[in-house]
Amino acid sequence: MSEFSNPELDPLPYDYDALEPSISEQVLNWHHDTHHQGYVNGLESAEETLAENRESGEFGSSGSTIRNVTHNGSGHYLHTLFWENMDPNGGGEPDGDLRARIEADFGSYEGWKGEFEAAAGEAGGWALLVYDPVAQQLVPPAATSSRDSSMSSTGTTSHTSTNRSSRASSKQSASPFFHRRVELRKDDLR
Ligand SMILES: [Fe+2]
Repeated sequence: MSEFSNPELDPLPYDYDALEPSISEQVLNWHHDTHHQGYVNGLESAEETLAENRESGEFGSSGSTIRNVTHNGSGHYLHTLFWENMDPNGGGEPDGDLRARIEADFGSYEGWKGEFEAAAGEAGGWALLVYDPVAQQLVPPAATSSRDSSMSSTGTTSHTSTNRSSRASSKQSASPFFHRRVELRKDDLR
């Protein structure tokens, strides 16, 4: 076992301009190469500090450093999910098991979509659809807006200025990407 998660920034699974006109090449470039890279660097740095503190036996800074692990780790993992959930050929409404589950837990697809977009509006422009394995249901996205939760929307203030432009343009094309791969394993739906 390693003391470090060895976080790395994987390349985007598509070209920087592949999501235009909904998300511009400039926004995607900054969002991936600068913002996501910052979370990776922050996570790596925090893990190094924790390891140094373990080695020295001095834990004075470990409490705040653990918060940095949580914050940067959430940013890293959620950005990774974000990239993987979009696709230049995505769009459309969910079907199959996911559609049935959304309708069961939110009343209708429209009920979920309206709530999801409202949650994204409360954060930095995006939100997550999360399955709660304890309650065994999809969680209302508005309940996942805490900044550093592993279930959070990562609606950090640093997103806001850049995401305004992408959010505005994505409204025009009805957010074609986020529906496609909000996937759950079939086992999760039972
Ligand atoms: Fe970001």
